[in-house]
Amino acid sequence: MKILLVGSGGREHALAWRLKNSKSCTNLCCAPGNAGIGGIVDEIVDLKVEDLEGITKFAVENAVDLVVVGPEAPLVAGLADRLREKGISVFGPSKKAARVEGSKGFMKDLCRTYKIPTAAYGRFSNMKEARGFIEEMDAPIVVKADGLAAGKGVVICQTREEAVREAQDMLEGGAFGDAGKEIVVEEFLDGEEVSFFALSDGKTILPLTSAQDHKRAGDGDTGPNTGGMGAYSPAYFMTEELERKILGNIIEPTIKGMAKEGCPFTGVLFAGLMVKDGEPKLLEHNARFGDPECQTLMMRLEGDFAKILKAAADGKLESVKDELGWSPETSLCVVMAAKGYPGSYEKGTPISRLDQAAQVNDVQVFHAGTALAKDGGIVSNGGRVLGVTAKGKTVADAQKRAYEAVDRIDWPEGFCRRDIGWRALKAQQEEAA
Ligand code: AMP
Ligand code: GLY
Repeated sequence: MKILLVGSGGREHALAWRLKNSKSCTNLCCAPGNAGIGGIVDEIVDLKVEDLEGITKFAVENAVDLVVVGPEAPLVAGLADRLREKGISVFGPSKKAARVEGSKGFMKDLCRTYKIPTAAYGRFSNMKEARGFIEEMDAPIVVKADGLAAGKGVVICQTREEAVREAQDMLEGGAFGDAGKEIVVEEFLDGEEVSFFALSDGKTILPLTSAQDHKRAGDGDTGPNTGGMGAYSPAYFMTEELERKILGNIIEPTIKGMAKEGCPFTGVLFAGLMVKDGEPKLLEHNARFGDPECQTLMMRLEGDFAKILKAAADGKLESVKDELGWSPETSLCVVMAAKGYPGSYEKGTPISRLDQAAQVNDVQVFHAGTALAKDGGIVSNGGRVLGVTAKGKTVADAQKRAYEAVDRIDWPEGFCRRDIGWRALKAQQEEAA
């Protein structure tokens, strides 16, 4: 199979690595990729992810057998629809199905219709109605822009006054542009967060596994929110029973509901969940793999990944259910970011000794925002720059290996959290005591 992968982050480097190691993948291209992806694929295609027309044209002219779409923006913009119109297999949902991520209101209404447990909510495009709703709620209150807002459209408000202000900023102040012209106001849920991933071809579901992200920039989950500073898989508190509930109460009704609504979901459904007293509730759905969760998943995944994604794209997921396997080990990814991220940061700073980091046993250094310098060296080219990912028998082993590799990297302008996996380690210590 000739495969075109779309994207340029750490998630895509991990996907590229797994696809390239799949028996059924004979040729892999990536648009636009990064310096790390360039080192492993057959061809880098110089097209931006938002260039739907260019990507479609490339896929047709090069007789691509499968397109795998990494990020949400081209999916929400309709890339999968364009490719399917040309008869090209694509792993990723249609524009209508990508609304599970692209419209928080759509996602919440789906929950209401199909009885999927989630926070109580209201949808508003009018400030007067939003204010009336907020005034009846107990704080904290969560205010969300309906559309895609680069991970920044969710505000947890400690008072009703703050919630009214945030709602007003979004609805009337243009805080998130068009994405905030409609909002969701919802109840605050407490508990512990976990991400769960499942593939679907529109009907059949193939559950993957769980991971736990670290969204704040600083150690101990302090500081501003980021795209994710590290992750590990599987989450320490996952049990067969919890997985059964996630599948039965959340994933299955979502996939069935979407088919009923006339927008069957093909691709990977990434459910962001809050778990309290063993009961999962849905915070959000995403229509793609998480970043950096994907790096930890790819590290543990066994089997012909290319064949599995092709079967999902072609409505034949049932036929590859036995193809998928998981390493029983834990994987853990430490994100190295440019100093200043998620605020402003410098680009083009040199990074070296990556080869030495990669020599640590069971470690993969996935590139995110990197580029090749003129002299052939690697320089930073974004906020999140590397995802140093390790595998180990326990969370502690994987963590030790990941930081051993991190410490071999020479990048004075970078930083990382030193505590990825801390919740799992703390729980294990408490259990041992
Ligand atoms: P979302 O983009 O909807 O996942 O929101 C981003 C983050 O905000 C989530 O990962 C949670 O940490 C938090 N969050 C979102 N909704 C809620 C909620 N209803 N209650 C508590 N925390 C929430
Ligand atoms: N790491 C969270 C996300 O990809 O949305």
